Amino acid sequence: MTHYKNVLDHYANINTSFLHGAGIKGSKHLLSEAKLAGNESVFELGCGTGASLVLLKHNFPGLAISGGDLSQTMLNAARKRIRFCGLHKEVTLYKLQQNQAIPLPDNSKDVVWIESVLAIQNDQQLDFLLKEIHRILKPGGKLIINETLWLPHVTIEQANRLNEECQKAFGIIQANANNARLDNWGDIIETKGYSIDYHGCIESYSNLGPSLTSWKNNHRSRLFDFLGKTKRLVNIKYRSDHKTIIQKGEQVISSRVKVLNAYAMVARKY
Ligand SMILES: C[S@@+](CC[C@H](N)C(=O)[O-])C[C@H]1O[C@@H](n2cnc3c(N)ncnc32)[C@H](O)[C@@H]1O
Repeated sequence: MTHYKNVLDHYANINTSFLHGAGIKGSKHLLSEAKLAGNESVFELGCGTGASLVLLKHNFPGLAISGGDLSQTMLNAARKRIRFCGLHKEVTLYKLQQNQAIPLPDNSKDVVWIESVLAIQNDQQLDFLLKEIHRILKPGGKLIINETLWLPHVTIEQANRLNEECQKAFGIIQANANNARLDNWGDIIETKGYSIDYHGCIESYSNLGPSLTSWKNNHRSRLFDFLGKTKRLVNIKYRSDHKTIIQKGEQVISSRVKVLNAYAMVARKY
């Protein structure tokens, strides 16, 4: 018996940061390739517990930052993290609703930042979100994404089977079987009105740049992670849920053949 509706609620309750492919390395990869000037307006879609919002602000204090998420549990954790890091006056958060417009004006953002959100949408939700992101980006604005995608050798049937198991075990799919594929992801983004400036698999990436490998400004966010871990260890409910998630993870993803990879992209609205 678990105490959460889906595994993301559990991770939100214990302040988990960088809930995406390659973790912090994935976010640093995006930061390196985003080539930000440092004064842009940035919106993070699906900001989770807010770790990337804080990382962005610490690396580029001049950014105007906001984030949004569907989950109130995630937003509560993000709000606490941002306050804990002393950034509550500088970061705005929005509660979003599935299939409803993002509450931001047309052509208002220089950057939309997304990590592990698009690939877990169904076809219709993905289409809707890509249109919404295009609407809020300024012409020439950047869409910066890290999504975990099925590798080309994985058939749609295999991906669907794994998704069913994940849905049963964790309450969410691993990645959309039709769209979130390494072999067609670039086409999907391009047909929605973007040109691709950069793309690449995260694991093989080494060019993180000296400033971005430093944690010294981000220590309060790390401490917030640590407080979440402590909560998990002392609270019987969270400890038992965490053990179950790890056990189920080993059962569902037991194959030694690699089926997914984290993939970074910087695209530009035209
Ligand atoms: C795997 S988590 C990643 C969280 C965060 N981006 C990170 O990397 O740590 C996916 C997040 O996307 C949010 N989400 C899913 N669908 C969404 C949607 N349509 N709009 C906004 N947020 C969404 C979830 O609530 C969750 O916080």
